[in-house]
Amino acid sequence: MSALTDLYKEITDCRQCDLCRQRNRAVPGEGAEEAAIVFIGEAPGWHEDQQGRPFVGPAGQFLDELLALIGMKRQEVYICNVLKCRPPGNRDPLPIEIKTCQQWLDRQLGLLRPNIIVTLGRYSMARFFPGQTISKIHGKARREDGIIYYAMYHPAAALHQQNLRETIRADMLKIPSLLAETKPSPDTKATEKPQQLSLL
Ligand code: URA
Repeated sequence: MSALTDLYKEITDCRQCDLCRQRNRAVPGEGAEEAAIVFIGEAPGWHEDQQGRPFVGPAGQFLDELLALIGMKRQEVYICNVLKCRPPGNRDPLPIEIKTCQQWLDRQLGLLRPNIIVTLGRYSMARFFPGQTISKIHGKARREDGIIYYAMYHPAAALHQQNLRETIRADMLKIPSLLAETKPSPDTKATEKPQQLSLL
């Protein structure tokens, strides 16, 4: 068993906040253990709570479509959330829930060590781009300690605001260039700088 699978067991057994009382299933996350890209959403919704898997409802269908746009499947990336249990009625996560749950995301990222962390929506953005607003920084990236952080609107936002669909698609289409930046081609001379893509 991998360290990540061991961690899933700890997450599904977690009773450190009140969300455990109403959940059907905790939703640790899923995807490739060697994924270069990790997508982080907000919290499980109704469908995710039923299945114990992230992004399997309508927002997840749009995320799958977005991944297909860049020629990727969900099995090639890693997908998880800030909260591992569903807030009742899909209400916003509470600060205490985010704080209590942070240990799990930290440990996941420590094991996965991705090249790119994509935040989906306000709550995961707040974790990696503190003090920023999504309307200003979506589609922009920040490089820190060898990791590229990239902010996007939450796919569910497009379900309520059709006009965001194209924005979200356009932001997704920038990810392959970011990925290319993390993998210098063998014939790039040491002095050549890779092209920088709207870094913050
Ligand atoms: N919204 C999220 O933020 N995460 C999910 O897993 C599903 C919907």
